[in-house]
Amino acid sequence: MKQRTPVFVNILIITGLLIVFYYLFVQSYSFFSSLYFWGTVIIGGILAYIHSAIGDLIENKKFAKLSDEEKAAYLAEKKIPFLKRQYMAAFKKQSETEEKDILIDHGFDGIMELDNQLPKWWVGLFWFGTAFCIVYVFAFSFTDFASPIKEYEKEYKEQEASVAAYLENQPPVTLESAEFSEDNIAAGEEVFKTNCVSCHSEGGRGGIGPNLTDNFWKNQPEKKLFKNVFHIVENGVTGTAMQAWGKNGVLTGTDIQNVAAYVYSINQLKKPITPAEGGAPPYGDEANWEKQ
Ligand code: HEC
Repeated sequence: MKQRTPVFVNILIITGLLIVFYYLFVQSYSFFSSLYFWGTVIIGGILAYIHSAIGDLIENKKFAKLSDEEKAAYLAEKKIPFLKRQYMAAFKKQSETEEKDILIDHGFDGIMELDNQLPKWWVGLFWFGTAFCIVYVFAFSFTDFASPIKEYEKEYKEQEASVAAYLENQPPVTLESAEFSEDNIAAGEEVFKTNCVSCHSEGGRGGIGPNLTDNFWKNQPEKKLFKNVFHIVENGVTGTAMQAWGKNGVLTGTDIQNVAAYVYSINQLKKPITPAEGGAPPYGDEANWEKQ
């Protein structure tokens, strides 16, 4: 006859599982101060006691039917403390005489296979894992808990909000405040690809609009190259296809600062694309820019 698990162990297990499940859905330990939680713990405890009382009745009935020898063995085993009994059962090894009974009838290279009972800790872990998996999949599919997509969306929105808040407090970039920074070149390249490449071509080599990589400039309202580009993009060139991107409200000051950094970079940090390499011929006068 099997020994029964003491009721306090069952209550501990129930309470532990309740904590895990409550945490899964509440996502903080605030439920410890909730009456619902303690209510379920108490109900769980009462059920465990009822279960144990019924178990006692059945145990008594079964015990009466045992032979004297079996009764003695059962009582002796019952004296071993619960945890020690669990430990012994969990790490129990089959004795050699038992091995004969559990030998599976095949082998290879002299290796025999035994139909050993799985250790209890292993089986326990397996069932815990299975139960956890079911709860987790449920929580993942139908609640917001531990969903990477939901977490990503939330954080993304927060980031966007903080960027918007930052930009709102930031004075708009103007011709006076604009500055060249290498960090803006990549963003400027994107602005260029979207808005400028149709006329100034790939890499600014020129097409409908002039070559932006050489040192010939038709429009030179400013003394420094970066400011000059900012000025032209903001105000355009009246009477030509080059519109006033800033004044017309197509690009923000930040966009213009970025694209001006990009134009500066292809003009100053790279070699000019000559007509021989597919660049547009010089347009305007040779420039003599002041240092940045
Ligand atoms: C619809 C065609 C078109 C588009 C799009 C365009 N440009 Fe232009 N751009 C021109 C033309 C044409 C000129 C020459 C104006 C002139 O004759 O003075 C010019 C001139 C310029 C100049 C001055 C060149 C010089 O030699 O004086 C700069 C700098 C410039 N564009 C940058 C840009 C940037 C940056 C963008 C994108 C935001 C852009 N352009 C988009 C057609 C265009």
